[in-house]
Amino acid sequence: MRTDWKKPLLRALAGETLSTPPWWLMRQAGRYLPEYREVRGKVRDFIELCLTPALAAEATMQPVRRFGMDAAILFSDILMLPYALGQRVSFREGEGPVLEPIEDHKALLRLDRDRAISLLEPVLETIRRVKEVVGPCTAVMGFAGAPWTVATYMVEGGSSRDFQRVKSWAYHDPATFAALMELLVESTVEYLAAQIEAGAEVVQLFDTWAGVLPETAFQRWVIEPTRRIVVELKRRFPGFPVIGFPRSAAFFYERYIKETAVDGIGLDSAVPAGYATAVLQPLATVQGNLDPILLIVGGAALANAVMQLRQQLSRGPYVFNLGHGVLPGTPPENIAMLARLLAEPPPLPPPRAGEG
Ligand code: CP3
Repeated sequence: MRTDWKKPLLRALAGETLSTPPWWLMRQAGRYLPEYREVRGKVRDFIELCLTPALAAEATMQPVRRFGMDAAILFSDILMLPYALGQRVSFREGEGPVLEPIEDHKALLRLDRDRAISLLEPVLETIRRVKEVVGPCTAVMGFAGAPWTVATYMVEGGSSRDFQRVKSWAYHDPATFAALMELLVESTVEYLAAQIEAGAEVVQLFDTWAGVLPETAFQRWVIEPTRRIVVELKRRFPGFPVIGFPRSAAFFYERYIKETAVDGIGLDSAVPAGYATAVLQPLATVQGNLDPILLIVGGAALANAVMQLRQQLSRGPYVFNLGHGVLPGTPPENIAMLARLLAEPPPLPPPRAGEG
């Protein structure tokens, strides 16, 4: 397939090997940017920011204007879906998200899926506005949380240390937990389809807490729901690229790619480059996986790690990214340095044994 007229990120996701890798960063918008803090200061709370298209589009574009990433990821949050389903959600400074926990089947019945997409209309409007202003080489990216990760927040009522409530429900009463997951699969499909119709050119499913489940549960609550979302999106939008990010999936990464049929696979920083190139890259475009702490450290440590990643992963389809999101303490100058490093011609490949 000829893909050379496409945006670099879309070419890489279609399986092309590019000499300078396309790049973007998870959580590339946010508090580490002074211009974001200014926009954030114009509204009372974070949800209001996500539901104000002019401001959300501005927050989406800020990192892209400053650093020239190859993707403009929609400024929103994975918890906007539970919010739109009618769960009470708030974001408290320094505390993270707080939700009124869904603890049983009864609470589930109070959620209203029919209203959800219309409540998210401002998010779709943000995508339309971003699409109007992005440059010709920048891909507009939509996203959602994967059902398992969204369920952890919905059931735990926020971030969790051990996931006791959500796992207990899933183990003890899988039939009613399946009803919650079913609701999330179906509303995530509708939400992502609406994002695609609004102009998203690629979508990513964030499964931040995929790595806390053992094998049988991983299959049922991570792979199966993700597979259903990917199948349905590709049925409605043939060939549309989907990236999966099952963070900390370790031994399950290979099976996740094979069974969900994602086009791109987000790797956390613990995935070894040799394993990624030998086992995962033949199956999907790999994306990742610089340790976000290196973006705080900067200097030679950053330059060496970026060179090494490019040397190892750029010989096949590759999208440069972090292994997790940009941290709030990241100096913007270090991202500017990263942008320069990634624009340089490819580093020489390491000599093979017996050569040189
Ligand atoms: O990547 C981007 O720049 C796009 C926007 C985006 C946000 N959250 C904005 C945000 C995206 C893609 C997310 C995804 C998200 N949200 C995930 C998956 C990725 C990951 O980091 O694991 C998760 C687990 C969430 C849930 C969430 N939202 C948490 C735990 C928090 C609190 C922690 C924090 O960083 O504050 C949020 C809030 C949030 N989401 C902020 C931003 C910019 C900060 C809120 C503020 O500015 O007041």
